[in-house]
This record gives sequence, C-alpha cells and structure tokens, in this order.
Amino acid sequence: MELDSFQEEALQALSGAKDSKALELLRVKYLGRKGALTERFAALKDPAQSPAEKSRLGQQLNEVKRRLEEALAERTVSLQTGPVPSRPKQDLTLPGHVPQAGRLHPLSQTLERILEIFQSLGFPAVQGPEVETEFNNFEALNIPAEHPSRENFDTFYLKTAVGTAPALLRSHTSPVQIRFMKSHPPPFQVVVPGRVYRPDAVDATHCFQFHQVEGLAVAPGLTFGDLKGVLASWAQGMFGSSARLRFRPHHFPFTEPSAEGDLACIFCSGSGCRVCGRKGWLEILGCGMVHPQVFKAVGYPAGTVGFAFGMGVERIAMLLHGVEDIRLFYENDLRFLRQFP
Ligand code: PHE
Repeated sequence: MELDSFQEEALQALSGAKDSKALELLRVKYLGRKGALTERFAALKDPAQSPAEKSRLGQQLNEVKRRLEEALAERTVSLQTGPVPSRPKQDLTLPGHVPQAGRLHPLSQTLERILEIFQSLGFPAVQGPEVETEFNNFEALNIPAEHPSRENFDTFYLKTAVGTAPALLRSHTSPVQIRFMKSHPPPFQVVVPGRVYRPDAVDATHCFQFHQVEGLAVAPGLTFGDLKGVLASWAQGMFGSSARLRFRPHHFPFTEPSAEGDLACIFCSGSGCRVCGRKGWLEILGCGMVHPQVFKAVGYPAGTVGFAFGMGVERIAMLLHGVEDIRLFYENDLRFLRQFP
C-alpha cells in the first residue's frame, strides 16, 4: 500500500513538472542513484526477509520503476513540444458555415422528368440487366447475325468461357422488351430506363456509354395513332405545350412500320437555327409497331399488336439545357454541374 501511494505521488510530480530543470530534479529524487526508489531496492538486501517476500517485492519495485521511467519520458517529450495552445476565444457573431447541399446530376434530373411524364400517361418504369445475351440484344429483335443492321448496333462483347453463349453489354434498351414479354402476358405498357454501351469514338455527341428510355405497349387494337398520341403528349409535358413532333419513315428490324420522331426545334420554333442545323427539326427518338417476328420470338400468338419507342437521355438533356458537348455530363466538373440547381 505504501508503495502504491509512493508511486502515485511520484507519477503526479513527474507529469506536473513545470520545466526540464524541475523534471531533472524529480528524476534524481525518485530514480537517481541515491533516489527514493534505489533506497527501496536496497531494502531487498535485508536478511530478515524470506526469499519469497524478496522476489515479490522485487517484482513490484521493477514495475514501479518502469512506470516512473515511462512518465519521465512522456513529460520530457511534452515539455519539448511546448504547451498545448489554449483555444482562441470564439466569436459567436461570425456567420455560420452553410453546409453544401447535394443535388441530382442533370442527366438524373432529365431522366426523372422523362419517367414522371410517362408515369402520368400510365407507363410505369421497369429495368433489365446491362449484360445481355446475343439472343435478347439481337436475334429475338429480328436482327440475325448476318443482318447488315447489326453494324448499326456495334457492340462490346464480354470474355466468356469457350463453349458458353457469348455475353455482351447491351447496345440498346430494346432487349428488355424481350425479357419483359417473356415474363408478362399482355396487355401492358411500360418504359425502361437504362445504360447502354457502344464502342463509339468519344466526341461532342458520342460516348461509349449513354442512357436510353425504351417504351413498349402491347394490347389488342393498338395503332400507330396511339403511338403518336403517347409520344406527342410526352413531348408536350417535357418541352412545353407548344412542342410539336413529326414522324419520318425509317427502318428498324424490330418494328414495322418504323419511324424517327423529330421535335420542332425548341430554339427557333422550326424556322432553322444553328442547333437544328437550319433544318428546323431535332431528331429525338426511334419508334414503330412491334414486328410480328419479335412477338413470335417471345411466344406471343399471331395477331398480337403493340408499339415500341426508344430515346436517348443525353440527347434530350442537351436540348433542354443547350449543352453542346456530351462529355460535360461525365467530367464531374462542378462549375458545369452547379448550373443545374
Ligand atoms: N433501339 C433503337 C435504338 O437504339 C431505338 C428504338 C426502340 C427504335 C424501339 C424503335 C423501337 O436506336
């Protein structure tokens, strides 16, 4: 017990030493050759003590010595590094730090808006995987291997084990049409947002990865008129009530008839400007009546009718905001992103 209080007193004194001089005096006092601890070690020589007592006391003394040396070393360092500066007085009248609020990326904002409008038209959103089979991405969509239009859907293939079916990064969201139809009987109408991949050289209007929104409606009696009506309503929700669409004949293997949808230029109202290349029209989507071969591939009965469409999210975001380079969306430059509150 006496040894405990001795240790306590010595530790307090060492850690409270005012300067290195005071610390040195304390070192001599407790740990020096004639110091208090040395004296106690000397007591071990007392012949009146049993060997067992001596060994117990020896161990205790060594432990105390170790602690004191530790405290001495600690205080030596803390005296060298100087006192911990006292906290400056706080000025409570200074304005506070306003935390930066996060916000959605302009592409997410655009996508949300597109989906909101389709939702209001009765098209809920569903999704599919980005890694696809050749069957879903091509064959079932009436694009056989030797078909020249495969070249229009240049594709990243993934390494797969020899003998297994090739896998690829989907080059459009249309394969989700196949997946959805295989697992749902008509009637239904859905939209499919998602990321797609094409090995395009990156420039102001192309990237190897971008986003599409696919649409698919299958129900008895649907006509091209329904397709036009849905897309026209969507365009007005998206670009304002004066938005006009026109449909120009086109070819897609998975729709027949097929069309491209052009939006009357929202910058010049159709009179021709730099953005629309003096054409007055901006191409924004592909669409058509689902090809009978596609229904056949998913096992739907002959005579099934429906329409499908697909649009690029980046393209629409660029039009909405007058962004002239697609790469700005991917560079994560806050000077650009902060412009989209
Ligand atoms: N999948 C087509 C594309 O990526 C777009 C499209 C979808 C066209 C559905 C018609 C119907 O270009």
